[in-house]
Amino acid sequence: MKAVWYEKQGDASEVLIYGEMEKPTPQNDEVLIKVHYSGLNPSDTKRRVGFRGQKHAFHSIIPHSDGSGIIEAVGSNIDSKRIGERVWVYSAQWQRPFGTAANFVCVPSNLAIKLEDSISLEIGATIGIPALTAYAGMFKYTNPKNKIILITGGAGSVGNCAIQMAKYAGATVISSVSGDKKMEAALTAGADYALRYDTSNFADDIMKITNGEKVDLIFDVALGTNLETNLDIIKDHGIISTYASDKKAITEIPFQKFLLMNLTVYSVFMYLLPDKMMQNALEFIKDWQINSDIKPFITKIYPLEETAAAHLALESGKTIGNIIIDCRD
Ligand SMILES: NC(=O)c1ccc[n+]([C@@H]2O[C@H](COP(=O)([O-])OP(=O)(O)OC[C@H]3O[C@@H](n4cnc5c(N)ncnc54)[C@H](OP(=O)(O)O)[C@@H]3O)[C@@H](O)[C@H]2O)c1
Repeated sequence: MKAVWYEKQGDASEVLIYGEMEKPTPQNDEVLIKVHYSGLNPSDTKRRVGFRGQKHAFHSIIPHSDGSGIIEAVGSNIDSKRIGERVWVYSAQWQRPFGTAANFVCVPSNLAIKLEDSISLEIGATIGIPALTAYAGMFKYTNPKNKIILITGGAGSVGNCAIQMAKYAGATVISSVSGDKKMEAALTAGADYALRYDTSNFADDIMKITNGEKVDLIFDVALGTNLETNLDIIKDHGIISTYASDKKAITEIPFQKFLLMNLTVYSVFMYLLPDKMMQNALEFIKDWQINSDIKPFITKIYPLEETAAAHLALESGKTIGNIIIDCRD
């Protein structure tokens, strides 16, 4: 089969190899998927460069944890009725060497989730990391229905998916963005309001929108950078959930404020969601797929042989929307 892999960490153009690899065979609890689209996320590029000390854990790594495709074969413990099923895949390259940037991938059967008929395989490849992260960040300690939620970075892959999921759940959604194109992306996803955090007096503008009511939950892409502002706009007993802090990993915690506001602050690491939360997330995502008009957020589809260019595009920070790879031969 054709695949993309790397044998050492480094720049995409130096370490990503495109070539022939042996087609895998499913183990007892696995399914073999003919990959149609591979979804690219920052965790794939961060793992490739060894971001914040991540180790190169296997000899050869086929990158990408998300993807979509059709089950072609199953292991001995898996019902053969699954053969032919359209699926979306998550965590394919989490603690495993071979991800979805290939014509075929084998994953444990529970990581290949039935894709509802109304959802395209292209969209299927964008669901995994963004939707599971958004679910864990918004539903762990509350039901978003009738809550005011601030989703920072609403033009990001996770943020944009979170807007769609929060609206489906019945929340009022305010999103922060930088730039007009990102504002459009957040509004297209369904945000009730999108505000430029880079040029506006953000906290005051939110209070104008809400008539002075603070927000119930902040789903945040940049804990360290945004914490000070977030503390001005969150209600007492509010929740700040965060899944990234790329620019400022270490930040001072103003304990007394946290204490007196009775805040819940927690981090989400999508790869390690507890089983029960994962089950709840998958059920929510299924309902969301069936009952909502999911808006595609795909910026570009690269051919498999141009996976290095796709990584460079994501790392440039200039793209808006998901990048997926066409893995069909
Ligand atoms: N913990 C987890 O399980 C988990 C899961 C998924 C992703 N992540 C991490 O989350 C981050 C985002 O992932 P992604 O796929 O959504 O990336 P993305 O598509 O590049 O989106 C990130 C968005 O955040 C915005 N942003 C950056 N700083 C901001 C700030 N201070 N306030 C508001 N918005 C800000 C960016 O736009 P501007 O810079 O123009 O504002 C961009 O639109 C990455 O670091 C990724 O590794 C973590």
